[in-house]
Amino acid sequence: MSHDEFPTDDPAVVTCGLPYANGDLHVGHLRTYVGGDVYSRALKTLGQQTVFVCGSDMHGTPVAVNAEQEGVSPEEFALEWHETYKETFPRFDVDFDNYGHTHDATNAETTKSIVRALDEAGHVYEKEIMVAYDPVEDQHLPDRYVEGTCPYCGEKARGDECDEGCQRHLEPGEIEEPVSTITGNPAEYHERSHKFFAVSAFEDYLSEFLDRLEGTSNARNQPREWIESGLQDWCITRDMDWGIDYPGEGDDDGETDLVLYVWVDAPIEYISSTKQYTERVGSDTYDWEEPWREDGEIVHVIGRDIIQHHSIFWPAMLNGAGYNEPRAIMASGFVTLGGKGFSTSRDRAVWADEYLDEGFHPDLLRYYLATNGGFQQDVDFSWDKFRDRVNTELVGTLGNFVYRSLLFAARNYGGTPDAEVSEEVDDRIAEAVDEFTDAINDYSIREAGNAAIRLAQFGNEYIQRNEPWKLTDEDPEQARQVIYDCVQIAKALAVIFQPIAPETCQRLWDQLGEDGEVANTTVDAAHEAPQGSFEEPDELFEKIEAERVDELNTKLEQRVEAATADEDDEDESMTEDTDDDADAQPADLEPVVEDRISFEEFQDIDLRVGEIKEAEPVEGADKLAKLQVDIGVEVRQLVAGIKQLHDLEELPGTRVIIVANLEEAELFGVESNGMLLAAGDEADILTTHDDSALGTRVQ
Ligand code: 2FM
Ligand code: ZN
Repeated sequence: MSHDEFPTDDPAVVTCGLPYANGDLHVGHLRTYVGGDVYSRALKTLGQQTVFVCGSDMHGTPVAVNAEQEGVSPEEFALEWHETYKETFPRFDVDFDNYGHTHDATNAETTKSIVRALDEAGHVYEKEIMVAYDPVEDQHLPDRYVEGTCPYCGEKARGDECDEGCQRHLEPGEIEEPVSTITGNPAEYHERSHKFFAVSAFEDYLSEFLDRLEGTSNARNQPREWIESGLQDWCITRDMDWGIDYPGEGDDDGETDLVLYVWVDAPIEYISSTKQYTERVGSDTYDWEEPWREDGEIVHVIGRDIIQHHSIFWPAMLNGAGYNEPRAIMASGFVTLGGKGFSTSRDRAVWADEYLDEGFHPDLLRYYLATNGGFQQDVDFSWDKFRDRVNTELVGTLGNFVYRSLLFAARNYGGTPDAEVSEEVDDRIAEAVDEFTDAINDYSIREAGNAAIRLAQFGNEYIQRNEPWKLTDEDPEQARQVIYDCVQIAKALAVIFQPIAPETCQRLWDQLGEDGEVANTTVDAAHEAPQGSFEEPDELFEKIEAERVDELNTKLEQRVEAATADEDDEDESMTEDTDDDADAQPADLEPVVEDRISFEEFQDIDLRVGEIKEAEPVEGADKLAKLQVDIGVEVRQLVAGIKQLHDLEELPGTRVIIVANLEEAELFGVESNGMLLAAGDEADILTTHDDSALGTRVQ
């Protein structure tokens, strides 16, 4: 079954993965929220009725552990962070229509009713299992209270997730060599009775659901593999006080001493938050039941580390309780910092507040995060790249076009000249609107942004080609025509670039003398006649100087050094943030291999210059890409582990070096006939300095 294109007749809800209310937000977190905000604004711009909801994730061990460290109750701790997030998101123009939290009455009530519905439909059963227990503290150790080794990949893992390895969800009792994060002592396993949701019974449903699911391909591919390797039922209760009580049989008085696993009530907040929106605006304006219980469109925007929860557990819960299923899941890649992972413990992060305190406009970061790579690719943040994108595309292309056009219009005509749009420009705007519409239907916010930048490029080329400054005397009518066209392009840009840069586009809208809010317009406004008179404009964007970037880099380095030194002085805390990275410090470099090879042995390796012609993901494989590489004498098919590290769409045209005489192999059923050379964990692709002919031997 395929879905109708956006805009559809049914209301949509766009959600963003709920942030745990347990610490400061950094640029890495913002990628998902900016992505969700851009997507929901873009749907609205297409004329799709859409609400954008989220909330803080208040329960579970991610909050309880941190609260304990601070010596406050989880409720007090989480509510404080919740208030901080509520203030932070709007500062980046991430404008949720409702931002609730999982600990409020609406969510408790919705959660209990869904769990009851699952229970009544026979999807929940009780089972004795072994759970980790700290004998010193006499305390059970759910989730982040225990660490150990992942049984699937052997990496260090938390009690409920293999966060540093294969990213799988881990069930209680699965983690090997368990250690209590409270005392550092080896944990014991004790038998306890817990509730299970029979996810395995949904295998057929989930396979079909994944065939229908739209969004990014990573949200379908990995889950398909998990289904193929057999689904386990899901333990939905925990031995903890902090959380929503498991609803007992009959009424609430019969509650048991178990709370629900945080991952049960967290996604249910998507529904609760939508309900709260309906309560505010009235069901005649927006009825939460339409997306959640009827035929509306549900789009989840998440980070790729929580795909399993959204593509497996959540749709099974929705289906089992009689709710609608998600139409699409957009799972973003991670953000790295200068090629390395963010590390909150080492202060290797650009914090949300810090970014704003440095005086940068939120739209610059929104643009960078939304367009620097495909949504499912990892995006690297560096101040240098940030400056480059801002100066080139925002200042040099879009800002420059708008400023020169509006300045010329204001000075010569006091605003929009008297004319009508030319066919050429009307067609080009229609093309940009089509590109924008297709991008949103393809769930590509980057392409939506590119549609606007390309239109601005066209505008610059159009004004340059027509030289209106020469025409004002020679051919005044033609001059009016050209400038009218430019004002029309500027208006279209305000409309289709608004989802990415809302505040800047509102300023542009105001500069154009247009009424109201550009965020309330739809793509039709891109073709509507501009308003008439306006004053000389101000520039939309400001150039970032190289010295500024040097300053910021130095600040970051100094901070990381200070934090690392502090950390070295302390014992590593067991519960510290484990979003740490493979920081490639010199000390981490592999020693050079001592055994030497002869020149003849090296000559046996046939290295050739090639050019990537096509690059596409290998279906079902998390990391692999299939490449067609032209090596002069023939086009070779190669499989390379670069899918998550490079934007495949951008690879065609890239010069590469391949090992041409490596024996053939088959990976995920795809033939690989050679090897692409790339450096390090980030697969930095080796290329040529000049332009040796394809097929040239490397020696
Ligand atoms: O991984 C996390 O940060 C979770 N707080 C995300 C929850 S998303 C959801 F399902 F609500
Ligand atoms: Zn693992």
